[in-house]
Amino acid sequence: MDLLQIPENKFITVSDGETLSLGDKTLEFVHTPWVHWPETMMAYLKEDKILFSCDFFGSHIATSDLYVSDEARVYEAAKRYYAEIMMPFKNMIKKNLKKIRSYDIDIIAPSHGSIYPRPSFILNAHKDWIEGPSKNLVVLPYITMHNSTKKMVDFFVSSLVEKGVSVEQFHLGVTDIGKLAMALVDAGTIVIGTPTVLAGPHPNVVYGAYLANALRPKAKFLSIIGSYGWGGKTVEILAGMIPNLKVEVIEPVLAKGLPSEDDLKALENLAKIIAMKHKEQGFL
Ligand SMILES: Cc1cc2nc3c(=O)[nH]c(=O)nc-3n(C[C@H](O)[C@H](O)[C@H](O)COP(=O)(O)O)c2cc1C
Repeated sequence: MDLLQIPENKFITVSDGETLSLGDKTLEFVHTPWVHWPETMMAYLKEDKILFSCDFFGSHIATSDLYVSDEARVYEAAKRYYAEIMMPFKNMIKKNLKKIRSYDIDIIAPSHGSIYPRPSFILNAHKDWIEGPSKNLVVLPYITMHNSTKKMVDFFVSSLVEKGVSVEQFHLGVTDIGKLAMALVDAGTIVIGTPTVLAGPHPNVVYGAYLANALRPKAKFLSIIGSYGWGGKTVEILAGMIPNLKVEVIEPVLAKGLPSEDDLKALENLAKIIAMKHKEQGFL
């Protein structure tokens, strides 16, 4: 009523599980609140076993091909949709994934993106994104002004790779923020790279941290690396910006100007700790 200004007397209010006969077809309504609006609801067409899933299982793809033909392409588009929109609601999604288990589904037709003629493809993908273990992956959003932080990032990335940890780095000056969100779906650890500017983290990093906090990825560990000139509250400010992340914070590494030998040793040690923690957690 608020969004379309349709008068109340035009509505039928249906409860969870209620059915509506259209003659030779029957719709059953399935309430899936907070996936991702408070009143999200799906409709199951019983005779044809089609689940009209509303926002659930959507993908960020606009194509005239009605059905999924290239699953790899749609996987990326659905992961982007999940990462950008659904990730903060993952506990609700988990509950609702269970709820639809009892339905015999031949086709899932979401409101966004292509129709899935093979529902297990998208059901399994969601199960993995939500319930699967984090990956042996460090996601490293960073920015640099004079390349000191960049030197630290380069060294740190090599060090992690040598220890068998995968890394995806994102330069926050140019990055596609949706791709960062997608990487956060899998990350075991987030490491933020920032120079100190105006006594705190660089504004682009503030934006990245705000987004990560809002998206609530399932990462278990977080650290900060970066360079400063004389001082500031970079670590305190960033740490205060991520209350939603249920992470263990690992000792940050900050270098004064260009990283010294000791700073590189500290980065090496940080990489070692992360590799060890990933092993302990059994990240894949
Ligand atoms: C606009 C600007 C503001 C800065 N503000 C601070 C600051 O408040 N505190 C500080 O310790 N360093 C400050 N610096 C110095 C940088 O943190 C320092 O040069 C650092 O090594 C830059 O790292 P980068 O090479 O990765 O950009 C500032 C530098 C610039 C250009």
